Amino acid sequence: MARDTPAGDLRLANLTKTFGAFTAVDSLNLTIPQGSFFALLGASGCGKTTTLRMVAGLERPTSGQVLLGDRDIARLRPHKRPVNTVFQSYALFPHLDIFENVAFGPRRRGIRAVDEQVRQMLSLVQLDGYGRRRPAQLSGGQQQRVALARALINQPQVLLLDEPLGALDLKLRRQMQIELKRIQTEVGITFVHVTHDQEEAMTMADTVAVMNAGRIEQLGPPAEIYEFPATAFVANFLGQSNLIAGDVFGRSGSDLLVTAHGARFSVPAGRSRTDHGPVFVGVRPEKLHLADTAVQVPAGRQHLEGTVTDASYVGVSTQYLLRTGWGSELSVFVANSGAQQRFAVGDRAVAYWDPRHAFLLGRRADEEDRTIPVLDEPIGASS
Ligand SMILES: Nc1ncnc2c1ncn2[C@@H]1O[C@H](COP(=O)(O)OP(=O)(O)OP(=O)(O)O)[C@@H](O)[C@H]1O
Ligand SMILES: [Mg+2]
Repeated sequence: MARDTPAGDLRLANLTKTFGAFTAVDSLNLTIPQGSFFALLGASGCGKTTTLRMVAGLERPTSGQVLLGDRDIARLRPHKRPVNTVFQSYALFPHLDIFENVAFGPRRRGIRAVDEQVRQMLSLVQLDGYGRRRPAQLSGGQQQRVALARALINQPQVLLLDEPLGALDLKLRRQMQIELKRIQTEVGITFVHVTHDQEEAMTMADTVAVMNAGRIEQLGPPAEIYEFPATAFVANFLGQSNLIAGDVFGRSGSDLLVTAHGARFSVPAGRSRTDHGPVFVGVRPEKLHLADTAVQVPAGRQHLEGTVTDASYVGVSTQYLLRTGWGSELSVFVANSGAQQRFAVGDRAVAYWDPRHAFLLGRRADEEDRTIPVLDEPIGASS
C-alpha cells in the first residue's frame, strides 16, 4: 500500500487546472524536496488551494502529473495517497473528544491499539492531558494543534497545510508558526504550506514559491528571494520595493549604467535581471538612508534629493515618504535606534544607498515608477 513505499520528492509536472475558459493553475512545474518545509505564497485567487487539492486528490487535474518519488499519484483516490491535509477550518468532530479525534485515522484503518500513538501525538503538539476534552472546550490554537495531530498520526509522506493559521489572532499566529516549524523539524515530513501572509512564509519555510495568476514567479530560500527578486510582482509582494523606471545606457566595468528621470544610477551586473532596454532600479525601503541635505553623502553611494511628504512612526522604525523631483514618492524605513535624525513633513532630505543593495529588473516600456508600496490582502480576506 502507498503508505509503505519510501517517500521521495514531490514533483508537479505541467500541472494544469482549468475551470471552463479560466485557467486557475497554469502548467506548474515544481520540485519539493523530501523533508523540506515549502511555502506557496500568493494573493487571493492565484491558485494555491486548487494546487493543493490536486495534490490531495480532491480535484482532478486538467492535465499534468503529481509525482511522489517516481510514482504518479494523480490517479490515486484521495485516501490512497500518502498525503494529509490540514485546513483553515480545523473540521474536528465536535461530538468526539480530543483523543478520539486524533485516533480517527488509525481506527478507520482497523488499528485497535492506538493509545500509545495518540499519546505521542498529543505530546508532540503539547496537548498532554487534553484527551478527554471536547473541541469546543479548546482555544483556536489548541484546536489547530489537534487538527495537526490528527493528520500527523497517519504518518503521511506529505502534509498539506492550507492557511492553517488563518483563523488565529496575530500573536497566536506567531506562536503557532514557531510551533509548526518545530514539529516539522521533529517529524521530518514534507510540509507544503499555503499562505498569503509573506511574513509567515518567510518565517517558516526553507523554500518559498511566489505564485501569481496560476504560475510560479520565483522560488528559493526566503532571504534569496527577498534580497534579489526576479520580477516587479515579487519585489512588491514579498515586502516592499521602490522601483524607479529607467533605461540601461551602458556599462562600466562590472556595473550597468542606467538613466532615470534625468538622474544616473549604477547597479552591479550580478544584481541585474537584464542588461539592456527599459528597466526598474529597485531598492528596498530599509536599504535607503535618509540625511539632511547639508550632510555629505558617503563616497560610493547613490542618492536622490526630495521633500518629506509623510512620516509614520511605527515603533521599531519611522516610515517616510520622500517626493522626488519628478513627483514619485520613495518609501524609506529608518530604524528607531535612537541615533537617527528625525524628519518632519515638508523637510528637504537626501535618500542614499549602496549600489550593491539595488537590483535591476526588466520593465515593459509603458510601465512607470512603482514607489508606493503595494499592500498585501488583509488577513482573512480569502474566500
Ligand atoms: N470549482 C471551481 N469552479 C470555478 N472556478 C474555481 C473553482 N475553484 C476555484 N476556482 C477559481 O480558481 C481560482 C483559484 O482559486 P483558489 O481557490 O485556488 O485560489 P487561492 O489562491 O487558494 O485563493 P485564497 O487565498 O483566496 O484561498 C480563483 O479565481 C477561483 O475563483
Ligand atoms: Mg485558498
